[in-house]
Amino acid sequence: METVHRIEAVRARVRAWQAEGRVVGFVPTMGNLHEGHLRLVRHARRISDHVVVSVFVNPTQFAPGEDFDAYPRTLDADSEQLRAEGAEVLFAPSVAEVYPRGLDHLVTVHVPGLSDILCGAHRPGHFTGVATVVCKLFNMVGPDRAVFGRKDFQQFQVIRRMATDLNLPVEIVGSPTAREADGLAMSSRNAYLEAHERGIAPALYQCLHGIATALRDGERDFLELEAQGWRRLGAAGMRPDYVSIRRRYDLSEPVPDLPADDLIVLAAAHLGRARLIDNIEVADLLGE
Ligand code: PAJ
Repeated sequence: METVHRIEAVRARVRAWQAEGRVVGFVPTMGNLHEGHLRLVRHARRISDHVVVSVFVNPTQFAPGEDFDAYPRTLDADSEQLRAEGAEVLFAPSVAEVYPRGLDHLVTVHVPGLSDILCGAHRPGHFTGVATVVCKLFNMVGPDRAVFGRKDFQQFQVIRRMATDLNLPVEIVGSPTAREADGLAMSSRNAYLEAHERGIAPALYQCLHGIATALRDGERDFLELEAQGWRRLGAAGMRPDYVSIRRRYDLSEPVPDLPADDLIVLAAAHLGRARLIDNIEVADLLGE
């Protein structure tokens, strides 16, 4: 595996593969890789001939006071893991390579509506930072396919909408959420949890699973289910930002006569220094 820091280098590699008719898959990350990221790399390998992974902690998606400075940067360990997974290029640009003019008066990509609800309502500007950097990374790398985790379901939908509306020539692929044995969704931010908080954290998954099971079984009092979920997270010691039942297709508010497989339950909650997010697509429970 080759580690490159410059746009020209990654672009040349990708273009050479594409000139031979090969399909190039891309997995954008902020590094500090865990099993969840590695599954995306495996997914990308299954659906493409060559895989590029980027590691870039993107300043424009962090609000002032969020954890940009504290975000774990572990490039050597990341590179070892990616090599073992068979990724061929690790693209690790500097902030100056990605934002050579600095961060003022940037041209940005805003995905209206989808960016302003749920996590977007609690992190203003976050999804514009994400859409902008992902659009830039697509333009730098030029992949045929890009794989995103469904753990960050709203992010996945924002990027899909951006790619559709801007006719980006990249196929956006969603990959299932990787979880710890007790259900907690894997995340770089789980490292912020103290030992006793780590014991509490699976309550988020349990709460979502309880709501998704009730929806699967025909319950349609959305407000009551959300209120129960909110109380459950509070009782476990978390401070929820939202617990929300939405349409999976576009994250709009659902109406009661929708079939279960149209629905998704999403939540975000603070626990100690960490802000945890998770979701369950009810369709995934239909076989259970
Ligand atoms: P990061 O949080 O590093 O996540 C990189 C990719 O890994 C995202 O597509 C995310 O959804 C996926 N991922 C993380 N944890 C996962 C899990 N437990 N199961 C499945 N997939 C998981 O998301 C970002 O970085 C950034 O916003 C980025 C898209 C790179 C733009 O800066």
